[in-house]
Amino acid sequence: MRKITANAYMTLDGRGEFPEYPGSDRPSDGVSALFRHLWFDRFDDVTTVIMGRRSFLGHQRTWSEKAVKPGEAKWLLDYRRYLDRVEKICLSHRLKSTDWENSRILKGDLARILTKLRHENGGNIMLEGGPAVVRECLRRDLADDYWFFVMPVVYGKGPRYWGPMDKQCTLKLVETKPGEDREILLHYEAVR
Ligand SMILES: NC(=O)c1ccc[n+]([C@@H]2O[C@H](COP(=O)([O-])OP(=O)(O)OC[C@H]3O[C@@H](n4cnc5c(N)ncnc54)[C@H](OP(=O)(O)O)[C@@H]3O)[C@@H](O)[C@H]2O)c1
Repeated sequence: MRKITANAYMTLDGRGEFPEYPGSDRPSDGVSALFRHLWFDRFDDVTTVIMGRRSFLGHQRTWSEKAVKPGEAKWLLDYRRYLDRVEKICLSHRLKSTDWENSRILKGDLARILTKLRHENGGNIMLEGGPAVVRECLRRDLADDYWFFVMPVVYGKGPRYWGPMDKQCTLKLVETKPGEDREILLHYEAVR
């Protein structure tokens, strides 16, 4: 069965934003250890990436190879090429078509969509936001594991990861990794 991992990028107050903090804007020739762990080490095993409509359109605009910037580091190009070639699922009721290659648009109940994808052929599945979809996974126990990339900022604005839950959700900590710029990566598994 295909495994589903949900990625969450958040500030300390659980906002889905990417604020500036010391080191966050440092140009980097090489991929950071945390980003390698989240993405590059998974290029072979993750063959499907799921995103809500806003995240999907944002990623296409920012991260497809068409958006490459002159003189950009090679690792960023590798990431763009991976996102172009991987199968992408855009969750949307409104969007009827997309010109991002290797993409499908699905709609309906999230649990039903994820069950359908789990039974399709392929490698593992990554759910890459946005915050509302990750929260629904946690609330309904839909993913197998969760990676929280936590930035060292209390930001006070932006989309919220956390909201009302029907019941407590307890996870099993698998690993923690500190980042170069005071971020922390928390890897949790669902407890079943
Ligand atoms: N990984 C990331 O992309 C990421 C990480 C951190 C923060 N953020 C930030 O978070 C924001 C976007 O997150 P968000 O939570 O507001 O939006 P989102 O999850 O990217 O997109 C929400 C949209 O997804 C569609 N959707 C969700 N579940 C669906 C379902 N079961 N069936 C059909 N469509 C479904 C709906 O689109 P329709 O309206 O078309 O039905 C909904 O309006 C951006 O500001 C971004 O910068 C993104």
